[in-house]
Amino acid sequence: MTRLHVNIDHVATLRQARGTKYPDPVMAAGLVELAGADGVTVHLREDRRHICDRDVKLLRSVLQTALNLEMAATEEMTEIAVDMRPDIVTLVPERREELTTEGGLDVVKAADAIQRTADAVRSHGIRLSLFINPDVEAIEAAAKLGVADTVELHTGAYCDADDEDLRRSQLLTLKQAAKKAEEVGFRVAAGHGLHYGNVGPVAAIPAVEELNIGHAIVARAVLVGLEAAVRDMIERIRGARA
Ligand code: PXP
Repeated sequence: MTRLHVNIDHVATLRQARGTKYPDPVMAAGLVELAGADGVTVHLREDRRHICDRDVKLLRSVLQTALNLEMAATEEMTEIAVDMRPDIVTLVPERREELTTEGGLDVVKAADAIQRTADAVRSHGIRLSLFINPDVEAIEAAAKLGVADTVELHTGAYCDADDEDLRRSQLLTLKQAAKKAEEVGFRVAAGHGLHYGNVGPVAAIPAVEELNIGHAIVARAVLVGLEAAVRDMIERIRGARA
């Protein structure tokens, strides 16, 4: 069965927008687990625009499922990963100005940095995943490097396809990449841009063991929870003069 890891970065985005203590991604992670998710994913960015060090630390101590830490292969993040001991480190490319992770890792170009981070985290028993584009060259480069047990295939091109033909061809690309990755010995994850309307065909790809989904779930939570939140506030307001 395909596992779901829920990315809760955007709970922290909302907190950071007002500099409050809430909503707390650590509390959100508890609900994510109660709902049956197999793990929680957070991206600790260099600029700490959403998830902060304190979140990763608390998540490490309270989570009962897997903690997947997405990060860039930098010295600072490597030290944090070694200190926090997530179950999985997923290496992603990171640019300060991007809204979200834009593409997969250039495994060849980033080989030295990946190798350094891999040596450090793997020596502490942390599993390593590389976030790559769903193409054969990237998979072969990742296999050649030989440091990761998992690749996470970037589903952005499939999710962004705005006509049916393109979506079909991007899905085929994902299927072929997943098969190739499995054949060369990787565990295969996938994610980025998946939502309620497009997740089905990706979840059905036999080689894909795990999906990382964030934005769509947090966005839906705002809408499915809004009615109860308004009712709760009305109750307080009306109750104030009772
Ligand atoms: N996987 C990786 C490696 C990511 O960087 C992200 C975004 O942080 C996701 C999955 C989740 O993407 P989304 O928020 O679009 O579901």
